[in-house]
Amino acid sequence: MRRLPRALLLLQLLLLVATGTPEAPVSAPWSLVWGPGLQADVVLPVRYFYLQAVGSDGQNLTGSPPGQTLFKVIIKSLSPKELVRIHVSKPLDRNDGTFLMRYRMYESVNEGLKIEVLYGDEHVAQSPYILKGPVYHEYCECPEEDPQAWQKTLSCPTKEPQIEKDFLSFPSINLQQMLNEVPKRFGDERGAIVHYTILNNHIYRRSLGKYTDFKMFSDEILLSLARKVLLPDVEFYINVGDWPLEHRKVNETPGPIPLISWCGSLDSRDVILPTYDITHSTLEAMRGVTNDLLSIQGNTGPSWINKTEKAFFRGRDSREERLQLVQLSRENPQLLDAGITGYFFFQEKEKELGKAKLMGFFDFFKYKYQVNVDGTVAAYRYPYLMLGDSLVLKQDSPYYEHFYTALTPWIHYVPIKRNLSDLLEKVKWAKENDEEAKKIAKEGQLTARDLLQPHRLYCYYYRVLQKYAERQSSKPEIRDGMELVPQPGDNTSLCQCLLKKPLREDL
Ligand SMILES: *[C@@H]1O[C@H](CO)[C@@H](O)[C@H](O)[C@H]1NC(C)=O
Ligand SMILES: *[C@@H]1O[C@H](CO)[C@@H](O)[C@H](O)[C@H]1NC(C)=O
Ligand SMILES: *[C@@H]1O[C@H](CO)[C@@H](O)[C@H](O)[C@H]1NC(C)=O
Ligand SMILES: *[C@@H]1O[C@H](CO)[C@@H](O)[C@H](O)[C@H]1NC(C)=O
Repeated sequence: MRRLPRALLLLQLLLLVATGTPEAPVSAPWSLVWGPGLQADVVLPVRYFYLQAVGSDGQNLTGSPPGQTLFKVIIKSLSPKELVRIHVSKPLDRNDGTFLMRYRMYESVNEGLKIEVLYGDEHVAQSPYILKGPVYHEYCECPEEDPQAWQKTLSCPTKEPQIEKDFLSFPSINLQQMLNEVPKRFGDERGAIVHYTILNNHIYRRSLGKYTDFKMFSDEILLSLARKVLLPDVEFYINVGDWPLEHRKVNETPGPIPLISWCGSLDSRDVILPTYDITHSTLEAMRGVTNDLLSIQGNTGPSWINKTEKAFFRGRDSREERLQLVQLSRENPQLLDAGITGYFFFQEKEKELGKAKLMGFFDFFKYKYQVNVDGTVAAYRYPYLMLGDSLVLKQDSPYYEHFYTALTPWIHYVPIKRNLSDLLEKVKWAKENDEEAKKIAKEGQLTARDLLQPHRLYCYYYRVLQKYAERQSSKPEIRDGMELVPQPGDNTSLCQCLLKKPLREDL
């Protein structure tokens, strides 16, 4: 055999180092398929499952396989008599050898579903998957009577550290005290408090204050939960405004009261829930919204080596540091590309700093580093940024969402000082330490994928209600001025709830 010229050999070697060994083509039967969307009794607005492509050498693929568009999912009713509308999305390629499969059912089936996962004409893994009915769709009101069983079905985590922590301040909850205090302290004109009572799995509420439009978000998730599982009888106040409200300390008299909010802060005691943003997008995924916890995973832009090596930010002017970002970006365009897309709080700055064009969120991931700077409170984009494959540079912040406790600086993201004084230095660090930066980005993404699975949001909500209910020292009641929040009628679809026992109506 003729010897290759030295330079060519070297080039080949370099190429091999850069791209790893060439990947073997996909083996359909060896590939792996798993996830909640393959279980009939995990009812979610959008059902989903995962696929890991495995090569014919038995190794997991770590990038998009050649012919990745060959993966396909076909879902049919088991009974030819039950024609149902099911919207099946194209597989989401997560660019790492895994795919996310999604479908939304618009009707329920009694007999069951057949899910075929194909690679070309070949069945993948154990396909076809048979989901024995009934398989309910989102709007079927059919709550599981046994919350324990429901949580088990969803594989809810046994511990949610943030919930444990939030309730530490509230070993018992004095409803009477709350009834006396909340309207006085928070129910004024500028109030954003919604008072809920859940009784016999029905939801009642009244609003305190003017700024309670966002109750549509708390309504929709409570209704969605009540369709799936029997909720405890419980009475509570949700703060639908931005800021957490309860600033009393545990050792003060009177002590703090457990308001429920979407955002927490180090100097407040509010019990927190997943934000309305990720909750609403989970409920409306594959119809109203384009950016949700699942869709984002298949839209993370070019692969790491092809991303622009700059830190990136676009957003509104809801905090001064965001304006500083733009200033920094002007002075250091080689490190940072930042722009304000809308002015409200600092309108006088628009002339000076200019307005950047709106950009689709998916396009953020053309950049290697994403800057996360608080808005009014925590920036609710953070979950989506973490689900991308860019490195997140996160501003230190007293504000947090429900999943932050599971994330560690330098493992899942790179921290930056609140006043941004070290931002440029951190960007430089990332550019000079590409392997490490990539590793942190990956670790953050994998952890976020696990924490932010839509079914886990349901687990979280349920757990908060349950903890709250356990601690109440008196019985919840329907109060003056409360109205029933009705389940949305869904008379266009089939849904025959085959409950084991009828609901208790006697209480
Ligand atoms: C292959 O992928 C699956 C699913 O992502 C994972 O559980 C398994 O550990 C991987 N195997 C190896 C050898 O990395
Ligand atoms: C990077 O981009 C180039 C040009 O578009 C493309 O040929 C190459 O496959 C990309 N690399 C990866 C790893 O995606
Ligand atoms: C930024 O904050 C740090 C503390 O985190 C402080 O030491 C530093 O002086 C501040 N820098 C500026 C420019 O304000
Ligand atoms: C379904 O309900 C809507 C209002 O809730 C009503 O206007 C419509 O006529 C109903 N359709 C059927 C087929 O009953």
